[in-house]
Amino acid sequence: MIALTLGEVAELTGGDLTGDAGRSVTGAVTLDSRTVAPGDLFVAVAGERVDGHDFLGAAAGAGAVAALSSRPDPALPCVVVDDPVAALGRLASGVHARLAAGGLITLGITGSSGKTSTKDLLGQVLATAGPTVSPPGSYNNDIGLPLTVLSADEDTRFLVLEMGARGPGHIARLCRVARPRIGVVLNVGSAHLGEFGSAEVIAQAKGELVEALPDDGTAVLNADDPRVLGMATRTAGRVMTTGRGPDAEVRATGVSLDDSARARFTLVVPGEEHPVALQVVGEHQVANALSAAGAALAAGMATADVAAALSGAVPRSRWRMEVERRADGVTVVNDAYNANPESMRAALAALAGLPATRRIAVLGAMAELGPGAAAEHERLGRDAAAAGVDLLVAVGADAVGIADGAISAGRRAGEESVHVPDRAAARELLAQLLRPGDVVLVKASRSYGLELLAADLLTDVAGSDEGANEGMA
Ligand SMILES: Nc1ncnc2c1ncn2[C@@H]1O[C@H](COP(=O)(O)OP(=O)(O)OP(=O)(O)O)[C@@H](O)[C@H]1O
Ligand SMILES: [Mg+2]
Repeated sequence: MIALTLGEVAELTGGDLTGDAGRSVTGAVTLDSRTVAPGDLFVAVAGERVDGHDFLGAAAGAGAVAALSSRPDPALPCVVVDDPVAALGRLASGVHARLAAGGLITLGITGSSGKTSTKDLLGQVLATAGPTVSPPGSYNNDIGLPLTVLSADEDTRFLVLEMGARGPGHIARLCRVARPRIGVVLNVGSAHLGEFGSAEVIAQAKGELVEALPDDGTAVLNADDPRVLGMATRTAGRVMTTGRGPDAEVRATGVSLDDSARARFTLVVPGEEHPVALQVVGEHQVANALSAAGAALAAGMATADVAAALSGAVPRSRWRMEVERRADGVTVVNDAYNANPESMRAALAALAGLPATRRIAVLGAMAELGPGAAAEHERLGRDAAAAGVDLLVAVGADAVGIADGAISAGRRAGEESVHVPDRAAARELLAQLLRPGDVVLVKASRSYGLELLAADLLTDVAGSDEGANEGMA
């Protein structure tokens, strides 16, 4: 973070300072007392399991200069506020305004699927043009976004922000913390459909990003998604379209997949064409790469540089299409970070593109889909069958509909479509079944924790080459 005095922190947050207003925060802003370093500002947040206020003493012991907290504490100076999370947003907003006045270019990314993947591509592309803040992971809410903003400083040229929403007004609120100059909308799918109610409401909410853009801003819209293209009328800024279709301003032609399911294509903009060979897995990454390209072009990069940087970009965040090979020749694809109908289909398509003697999909349920959930799970089972999955293993009580769907599409119950009660049963079954040449996709919503199963599958073999499994190939 930029250096701020405690007086400035109190002013920006509207809090009451106990202690010396002239002392400065010289380090980072952090919520975790275990990561506090000397000079940091510790933010005490009451979470579901732990209350940060219980760790004020520990933060002070680790060198925190002060805390942003809802009550004073004798251990260290405190900026006392009603709601530390809201105050964190105000602090980030004040810091962002200063950095924006100094020329920082802020880029926001939203959509139902692919925000983190696109942010990781865009962050790596922009980093070739100047100092960039774009942390790995999914910092897209009222805590993660301000923390990302606060990790920028006067040297930062590009700030890439992931913006998530669980309801109307959420993205508008994040844009009030840090108003982007460039806003990217990827797609409108069914993530969190249960909370939103309908795809139209999701489109309305995602479009809050383009509504927040200034007159000299740019909305980078995926023209292949009609609901996203429909947002073109909602921005004061310029519109740049991306997509596979012929009408998009930034598009991909000649898309093909190599034998690791990584896409190659020609990046086409008016008057220019450059080859791209992605290192991230799955055809869905073409759309993400085009969105990242559009945003980087809007930020002033040359097309040739964008194409080269996209080809150099590697996977950054865990559990998204991590392809790892066991010593015995079984390949595990860990895409267990989260799941919704669109991302399940994207992952199944990627599985279909990987060379294998047998393709096995180990799928758990998709959470938060609302009243359409049962039908979506059945449809997923049918889609898995249509995608050429040789064996479907549906894990957990909520996933039984996936197995039923595959059976209704002609897969033999208990042989080609199996339902198991939990992760342990899936592990046991697969320990018996897996053979060299098999490729196993593991995916479910976050709450089912199937990344643990994917990790177990990688170690469930004698002589596993663990060293080879450290990267995220
Ligand atoms: N453009 C896309 N279209 C469909 N599915 C995608 C796309 N990009 C990524 N995915 C799938 O979605 C999963 C999650 O990707 P990612 O983490 O990038 O999304 P996210 O939007 O950041 O999710 P979250 O809302 O959890 O933050 C990936 O593992 C992949 O299966
Ligand atoms: Mg994310």
